[in-house]
Amino acid sequence: MFIAKRLLKNDIIKLNISILKNNKNYFRKDGIYAMELKSVYFEDIHKDNTDDVFRIVQERAEELAIKTIVVASTSGDTAVRAVTNLNGLKIIAVSHYTGMRDPNTQEFTDANKKLVESKGGIVFTTTHLFSGLSSAMRKKFNTYVIGDIIANTLRIFSQGMKVVCEITVMAADGGLVRTDEDIIAIAGTRRGADTAVVIRPVNSGDFFDLKVKEILCKPHF
Ligand SMILES: Cc1cc2nc3c(=O)[nH]c(=O)nc-3n(C[C@H](O)[C@H](O)[C@H](O)COP(=O)(O)O)c2cc1C
Repeated sequence: MFIAKRLLKNDIIKLNISILKNNKNYFRKDGIYAMELKSVYFEDIHKDNTDDVFRIVQERAEELAIKTIVVASTSGDTAVRAVTNLNGLKIIAVSHYTGMRDPNTQEFTDANKKLVESKGGIVFTTTHLFSGLSSAMRKKFNTYVIGDIIANTLRIFSQGMKVVCEITVMAADGGLVRTDEDIIAIAGTRRGADTAVVIRPVNSGDFFDLKVKEILCKPHF
């Protein structure tokens, strides 16, 4: 993947110094400052991509000195794999809201929650950013409103792209990630993981300032 930006002289000082000095992918040519980075595209949408996602995430987290990972996990299986496979990183697993599938029922199993927490991970359950009241409008009035529109627009990239944006903001609103530090967010298509991004969190009230900085992997469809 190729990222380029033409800069005015004054803009140069705004660039992250660590990127300038330490990133081996960074170069300058003819006044263009740019990074050439790797993205991985999975041929099939399958939960078997999950371990490769963790390998890609571990490598990039180390390169960028990122310390925090937010991962979507419904049953807890992907969260358990995250705390098992990712080393030296704070893992925040965001679950479905309680009652999403069946009333008063949480899909993230107690056994998986214990396993995640025993390895220092956090399991976080809250209202879904995009569906929230939008799904109530859809169900009751058969009307699609803003959350559904944003969610389905992000699904143009992948189901996981919608989810990484959603869980990043949910975690920020829960006070579990800072809005002045990059994190890596991981999600998938119904089960497992197939999408990972470097992302700068924002609170829900600042949603349109959310920045997906790097797409580390996604399905090729
Ligand atoms: C808050 C939240 C929203 C999700 N939304 C979607 C979605 O819109 N489409 C989709 O295919 N998967 C969605 N997922 C599934 C995740 O991307 C991921 O694949 C799954 O949670 C992993 O669950 P597992 O631990 O049971 O493997 C969502 C998960 C969560 C926690």
